[in-house]
Amino acid sequence: MSTNVSQDMVQAAVEIRKRAYAPYSRFLVGAAIRCEDGRIFTGCNVENAAYPEGICAEGGAISAMVAAGGRKITEVIVCCDSATPCTPCGGCRQKLREFATPNLTIRMVSKDGQELFAQTLEELLPHSFGPESLNV
Ligand code: THU
Repeated sequence: MSTNVSQDMVQAAVEIRKRAYAPYSRFLVGAAIRCEDGRIFTGCNVENAAYPEGICAEGGAISAMVAAGGRKITEVIVCCDSATPCTPCGGCRQKLREFATPNLTIRMVSKDGQELFAQTLEELLPHSFGPESLNV
């Protein structure tokens, strides 16, 4: 697992987290994703008065990447609203899996970007179901 962390990615995740719209949970999350050509896409959580309609930071970043033509995630950083890093939710692990291989390093940073935790996607989502699982 790679432990090298790109400061531009950390900065992007830390900054986009501040734009999150989370009036209900007050838990602001930011995500930065790099795709195959090196471009970085970001997302933040966007909650809704109809609670289940809220979207996660990772989902927003993935949508931005796909809309811009990106199809392969090469780097991910998630920045949570806490002093210690937290892991992506189960749904986001699966969403990341669609565009990443199980050996991808998922990096998580604290709110200030100082504390780092890293796991592979395989560790976070073992024996995953992915695009290759389908006969298409
Ligand atoms: N959240 C994310 O944006 N990403 C995750 O991986 C975990 C949870 C958001 C959803 C909700 O707006 C808030 O954090 C509290 O769960």
